[in-house]
Amino acid sequence: MKTELQWGGRFNAAPDEALLRFGSSLEDDLPLAPYDVICSRAHVAALLGGNVISAEIAAELDAALERVAQEIADGTFATYARDTDCEDVHGAIDRRVRDFAPQAGASLHTGRSRNDQVATTLLLYVRARAQTAKDEAAQAAQYLLERAEAALQSGAMIAATTHWQPAQPVLLAFWLGTAAEMMLRVIRRFDRVVSDAARFSPLGSGACSGSTLPIAREISAAQLGFAAPSRIAMDSIGNRDVAVDLLHAIARALVDASRISEEIVLWATPAFGYVKLDDAASTGSSLMPQKRNPDPFELVRAHAAGAVGALQAALGSMSGIALSYHRDLQETKSHVMHGVERGLGALRAFRLALPYVHFNEEHMSAHASDGYTIATDLADALITAGATAREAHEAIGNQVAVAEAEKRPLHASDLTAIAKAVGRNIDTAPLTAKASIEAKQTIGSTAPAQVAKALASMRSELAAIEDHCCGSAV
Ligand code: ARG
Repeated sequence: MKTELQWGGRFNAAPDEALLRFGSSLEDDLPLAPYDVICSRAHVAALLGGNVISAEIAAELDAALERVAQEIADGTFATYARDTDCEDVHGAIDRRVRDFAPQAGASLHTGRSRNDQVATTLLLYVRARAQTAKDEAAQAAQYLLERAEAALQSGAMIAATTHWQPAQPVLLAFWLGTAAEMMLRVIRRFDRVVSDAARFSPLGSGACSGSTLPIAREISAAQLGFAAPSRIAMDSIGNRDVAVDLLHAIARALVDASRISEEIVLWATPAFGYVKLDDAASTGSSLMPQKRNPDPFELVRAHAAGAVGALQAALGSMSGIALSYHRDLQETKSHVMHGVERGLGALRAFRLALPYVHFNEEHMSAHASDGYTIATDLADALITAGATAREAHEAIGNQVAVAEAEKRPLHASDLTAIAKAVGRNIDTAPLTAKASIEAKQTIGSTAPAQVAKALASMRSELAAIEDHCCGSAV
């Protein structure tokens, strides 16, 4: 085992091995390796741009970094890095560069601290992962919108619930549109993270105060797809806000996905029978031969808790630490990366599982008025006939109680009686789920024309967000 640290000149004794291992972030930050190389090459360009290193040294460093990039891509670098026992992936890359270019390699870390290096590398990682997350959410939204449009054509209905109790009849397209609207907000959150991760480049900030060397920071910033070099060195090396924002956006995405999943899980039970999952998205029981379980959606539900936990841990690890860099931030990074990687996996599974859900449209439509879901429409009819909301609510409530005792739905014949009881006349009111849905008049309601408008608006919003991109480079 070759022990290789990037410091040590002032120490007389070697560090305690167990404590060194405790302080290592190598395993956590191996996924950052490709971003460190990109970052290191930009640093070389900035050193060259400021005439801090010669063109020959820069070329040698660049060639060595290119070789490291190849080793990262073919998977051999991870084994190398673990064998060196370096403190982190940044030290391991520096070490590998010196293997390939012993002389020039000694200049790679010129004017650089791991503080600006880690902050910049993490931002590149965050930008790439936020873009992936945005793509996953966009695919989910795309699918939900397509499915909603089909359901609008078929006119399938469902009894919307509140408190899981039958509430009002709605179009299945309306439920799917609700899920799509949630996903659109998710996409916008990821989009903001992508933009924020392309604002200020911390590279060239050094340990905390900048450098006496004329490093051309604007060159590395542009090469890395940032809008500008950061304005305040101390802030930029101690700032993990965008990374935490990504984790927050992932946690929020999974909380939304968990709510949609909860409904699918319940709907897949024979008691509901609203949906059936393809075999591809179902699992069986090792004991009960009849079982067909909706595991992907149950796991998505649980992953939301994991992401929220990671977010809480990340925020906790940051709170109370003074400005600038403190080693606590290594833990922040670990919580962010674990949360992001696991969360992205769950978001992808959610997106992949959605098309395996088949809606039993006939069955759900047939039960859309169960549980007196049209009662509000009858009360509205009374209000239209001149009753107050309180009178109408009371009168229809009484009639529901009667119908329930007689184990029957509300009939047209009840209407006249109800109206009479409050001294009004009504000749018509929506008595079926379909009539209830079609009678809705407000913007954003479940009326087919309103749902069509909402879906079209969401379609164009989705297209606009998908087109919006920034800070590519990586
Ligand atoms: N492994 C550390 C991290 O990820 C690198 C930064 C160390 N900086 C320092 N000043 N000791 O945060």
